Amino acid sequence: MFVISTAALKRNTAILRSIKEATGCRVVLALKGFSCWKSFKYFADDLDGCCASGLWEAQLARDHFGKHLITYSPAYDDVDITALCEFSHHLDFNSLSQWYRFRDRVMEHPRFVRGELVCGLRINPEFSTGETALYDPCVAGSRLGIIAEQLVGADLRGLSGLHFHTLCEQNSDALEKTLNVVDEKFGYLLHDPQFKYLNMGGGHWITKTFYDRERLIHLVRNTQEKYQVEVWLEPGEAVAIHTGVLRATVMDVFDSGGHHMAILNISATGHMPDVLEMPYRPDVFLVDSEQSDSAPCVVFREEIYHAAGEPERSIEAAVHTSNPRFTYRLGGPTCLAGDIFGDYSFHRELTIGDTLVFDDMAHYTMVKTTTFNGVKHPSIALQHENGDLEILREFGYADFRDRLS
Ligand SMILES: Cc1ncc(COP(=O)(O)O)c(C=O)c1O
Repeated sequence: MFVISTAALKRNTAILRSIKEATGCRVVLALKGFSCWKSFKYFADDLDGCCASGLWEAQLARDHFGKHLITYSPAYDDVDITALCEFSHHLDFNSLSQWYRFRDRVMEHPRFVRGELVCGLRINPEFSTGETALYDPCVAGSRLGIIAEQLVGADLRGLSGLHFHTLCEQNSDALEKTLNVVDEKFGYLLHDPQFKYLNMGGGHWITKTFYDRERLIHLVRNTQEKYQVEVWLEPGEAVAIHTGVLRATVMDVFDSGGHHMAILNISATGHMPDVLEMPYRPDVFLVDSEQSDSAPCVVFREEIYHAAGEPERSIEAAVHTSNPRFTYRLGGPTCLAGDIFGDYSFHRELTIGDTLVFDDMAHYTMVKTTTFNGVKHPSIALQHENGDLEILREFGYADFRDRLS
């Protein structure tokens, strides 16, 4: 079961609101990172709206968040443009060929003529700040955004914004360096009064305790003053980080090839694909409590949650100490041989029926789940400030069947 804390969501969005208040910039939720729409009402007041990756997210934003809607997609088709012109407020294009293909239609639309719909272009400063190529829109040969060289002499009539998204889980020093490159390569456009907004995308780890928010405030103010543009931020992760967990149940325990194996009722490939793609190692806790269902989902009380550690490399160290550890390879119930979360050590042996809690599973997990192998999909619940759980959605066989034909 995914359990999301309304208090934790509010804690994050209050921080984002404070950035808005300090700078006058606008902050929207990136739905690609978190789109549990039944939770929106708990924090929508703090934010300016949503950014959507295409028509369906845009519809979700319109129907369940309201406020301002930014849409950016690597490519739109006729159906997308026809619909988005009716209700998106910013429409950002990935390439000049997309913009030229749809420009006349967009510019003739009454909402564009009235100024209710404005358009921008995603730029690629070709300046990588991250380590993981899979998540780096600035890798050589990237398909995301237009590079400075291709803009020289281009006909940019009708555009009034620039958009970049180059960061991933980064502090404001990475933003500062990026803004310097953006200034070098695209500053001439931002100084042109035709350009009225700069969207700095997502990847800002604003709600992490170590994030340098003062520097962000300084950078945003500086950008606004320097170019006289409106600044937009579209965080996904920063809204939902540390707000939710995924609870799993141990279904089987056995030995294989020198490992203790534990098969869980959740799958890495089906429910947590980033564990395999990025890859990364989630924090896992073993819950020792009769009341594991109502235990707080983001405040880990030591008497209830026992942190799983790194695997013990030596059997001596694992067993012959005053504090023995029991290492298990945690895997999912699918056919994929590599459906493995990782090796974790626990303070006691695992038994069938144990509850394991995977931390920080609200962002980029719930939005990516599948029912590969017909594995049961975890239900989704909100945990309210008084501790009560509200089940938002349970999934059944019909959900699996109906998605396939
Ligand atoms: C264009 C764009 N905006 C915003 C985001 C949100 O990024 P994050 O969740 O890292 O803040 C992404 C993430 O991929 C993105 O591609």
